[in-house]
Amino acid sequence: MQDTQIQEQVLTLGLDDWRAGRHDAQWVAALEAGKVLYFPQLPFVLAPQEQALLRPDLLMPEVRNISLDAEGRLKGAAGDAQVQAALAGMVGRFRHQAESLVHALLPHYVPSLRMAPTSYRPAQVETRQQSWRADDRRLHIDAFPSRPNYGERILRVFANVNPAGVPRTWRVGEPFEDVARRFLPRAKRYSPLQARLLRMLRVTKSLRSEYDHLMLQLHDGMKSDMRYQETAPQMTMPFAAGSAWICFSDQTPHSVMAGQFMLEQTLHLPADRQYNPASSPLAILGRLAGHPLV
Ligand code: SIN
Ligand code: FE
Repeated sequence: MQDTQIQEQVLTLGLDDWRAGRHDAQWVAALEAGKVLYFPQLPFVLAPQEQALLRPDLLMPEVRNISLDAEGRLKGAAGDAQVQAALAGMVGRFRHQAESLVHALLPHYVPSLRMAPTSYRPAQVETRQQSWRADDRRLHIDAFPSRPNYGERILRVFANVNPAGVPRTWRVGEPFEDVARRFLPRAKRYSPLQARLLRMLRVTKSLRSEYDHLMLQLHDGMKSDMRYQETAPQMTMPFAAGSAWICFSDQTPHSVMAGQFMLEQTLHLPADRQYNPASSPLAILGRLAGHPLV
C-alpha cells in the first residue's frame, strides 16, 4: 500500500452540529470500508463546572475507564456523591449526542442498534503500563476474549475533551482485508472442543464461534508482531482537542499513542443490517476461509 493511499483511511469532514448530519452514501461507504470519519469541528462542549471533572484521580485504583451502563449506573469513579452525579451527567449527555450523531448519519441502522456502556477515559495514555495483549498502543482491531459477538459490529464514537489542546494521537492501519490476508495463514485453527471448554470454565460468557476465534487471532497476531507494528502501512493521526471521530473498531486497525481525557460511546449492530453487509469482517473472513464462521 502506498503512503498516499493510507492517508485515505481517514476522511476529514466539516460537520459542526451533533444533530445536523445527513445520510451521505460516500461517508457511509467509507465508514463501512473501515475508514475513520473525522469531525475536527465537532466538539463535545463541557459545562464550566464540568471542567473540574478533567482529573485522572477520579479513576478508582486499578481501573482504566469510568463507565456509565445502559441503566445509568456509573462504574469505576472515585469521588463523593456530588462528583459522581456530575460525572454521570456529563457522560450521559455525551451518550445522547453520540447517539444523535449516529442516528442522523446512519438512519438505516437505527432500529437495529444496541447501546453499550459509555466510557470516560481520564488517564494519560503515554504512562500506562500494560501486557502486550492489553496494550492499545499496539495496532490492533478490537476483539474481546471473554465476550463472543458472532460478527456483531462494534461502532464507536470518540470525542477528545482535553482542556489544554493536547491531541489524542492514534495510528491508523491498513484495510481489514489486508490484515486478514496477512494473518489468517498464521492463525491457529478453530477447535470446537476448546470453545466448549472455555465456555464450561466460564472464560467466555457464551460459546466462542470460529469468527470470534479468528478475530482474536488477528488481534493477537498484530499485537505480538513487533515487525508488523513497525513496518505495517500506517498513518499517525492526531485527533485535535475539541474534535470527534467514528469508526468500526472491529475493522479499522488502530492504536492510541498519546493523549488524555476522551469520551467514547460503543454501539453494536448486526452485520446483516449494514448498508453493505459484504464489507463486514464477518463476510470478509468467511469469504477468505471459504465457509460460514458462525
Ligand atoms: C482503543 O480502542 O484501542 C483505544 C482508543 C483510545 O483510547 O483512544
Ligand atoms: Fe481498540
